[in-house]
Amino acid sequence: MTRNDNPAIAPAATIIPDTETILERDEYVIHPWECFDRRHLESRTVITRGEGIYVYDSDGNRLIDGPGGMWCVNVGHGRRELAQAMADQAAQLAYYSPWSLSNVPAANLARRLASHAPGDLSNVFFTTGGSTAVDSALRFVAFYNNLKGRPEKKHVISRADAYHGSTYLSASCSGKARDKNYLDFERGFVHHLASPNPYRRPDGMTMAEFREHCVKELEDKILELGPDKVAAFIAEPVLASGGVIVPPPGYHARCLEVCRRHDVLYISDEVVTAFGRLGEMFASESVFDIVPDIITSAKGITSGYIPLGALLVSDRLIREVGDNEARGATFANGFTYSGHPVACAVALRNMDILEGDGLLEHVRHVGPYFQARLRTLEDLPIVGEVRGMGLMACVECVTSKQSRMPLTMAYEIGSRIDAHCQKLGLIVRPLINMCVISPPLIITEEQVDNLVALLRKGIERATDDIRREGLWS
Ligand SMILES: Cc1ncc(COP(=O)(O)O)c(C=O)c1O
Repeated sequence: MTRNDNPAIAPAATIIPDTETILERDEYVIHPWECFDRRHLESRTVITRGEGIYVYDSDGNRLIDGPGGMWCVNVGHGRRELAQAMADQAAQLAYYSPWSLSNVPAANLARRLASHAPGDLSNVFFTTGGSTAVDSALRFVAFYNNLKGRPEKKHVISRADAYHGSTYLSASCSGKARDKNYLDFERGFVHHLASPNPYRRPDGMTMAEFREHCVKELEDKILELGPDKVAAFIAEPVLASGGVIVPPPGYHARCLEVCRRHDVLYISDEVVTAFGRLGEMFASESVFDIVPDIITSAKGITSGYIPLGALLVSDRLIREVGDNEARGATFANGFTYSGHPVACAVALRNMDILEGDGLLEHVRHVGPYFQARLRTLEDLPIVGEVRGMGLMACVECVTSKQSRMPLTMAYEIGSRIDAHCQKLGLIVRPLINMCVISPPLIITEEQVDNLVALLRKGIERATDDIRREGLWS
């Protein structure tokens, strides 16, 4: 338990009540993806402090931050430079309206993002996070087609296992089956293709054949709906929350060809993959060889220190909406906090750290080591596949290696592994039968070894549990 000796004079942020008190107060919070019939049954770990790749819970235990917060704490915890950038900017100018006025950090950040973006993606629209970036991208696409006099061109194609956010539109484009049960979605103009997951490709199909199979599915869908009706294809370079699915090599480039052939815009959702997670500021062109029409980003843009999102739109699209005959048409979309000066100041400093500390090169070096070490877990009987790229990975548990059938929710295997790992000193992100690992980019090889050793123990203990309970043999 961590207590402040003199709470009367200490700054509020340093006063940490005991765990029980925090959890009592936490009962007032509705958490994301809340399960209401279990709401107060499960005790949550309370995180009070972070340093490097580690966080500390309210009982003082040190844990490796396996998920990097939520794939976002890229430069690691406790960076004073970021706190200082925040304080300096807040003291100078905490806020002003982005509507008809400008602020210095937003202007500087937009120019800096444009200088890293592929092709002619040099127009930046700031949002409050990833969902609002995706939402704004989709609204921009609709705006674009309305101005071009083709209001029928509105359909959007996405994929099973995609995750694009939690606004009505971005959630409609998400394709994770279990999230679709009790909420409403736009179903009229959003369509989902099958997941491009190589692990579950039909038996006997090579990777190249699978790629072409997925590409054909996209083209068939465009032709079925009619190219004059399809506005955009939205895709994560690596499907993150769907289980770190890396599509077959060349898949994105072939999909882009199809989109170009049918005048369909390509939105590359880089909310997770940008800002170093794959060793590049943006991964679309550097890693996947595509220059999309729009890139959405968030998370690592500030290393999660403060909310911010951004979309980058190509010069071509901006020219086309500017050159239209509907003079005075405004893109009536924006947020009070678009281009928030404090958030943009943090993002600029965060990019200084990514570049100044050589973190992109570091990820290119440590990423393959991280992937190779994690893959050693495939010898465990319950592990069907370990996959990933750069510093994002997923361990998937299956009923048997032969069947590749995922262990269902009833086994709670992901949560069991996370619970055991937490006791051992590691947080993982459980996703039903999978565990996601995407640590801060500063992780060293030695820390990777430690992480993998703890994860191995956690998986072994969780396997013992379900064996003991007669659920798995
Ligand atoms: C690929 C992708 N897009 C969009 C989002 C939504 O971002 P946010 O939670 O910041 O709204 C996420 C969040 O995990 C994501 O992974």
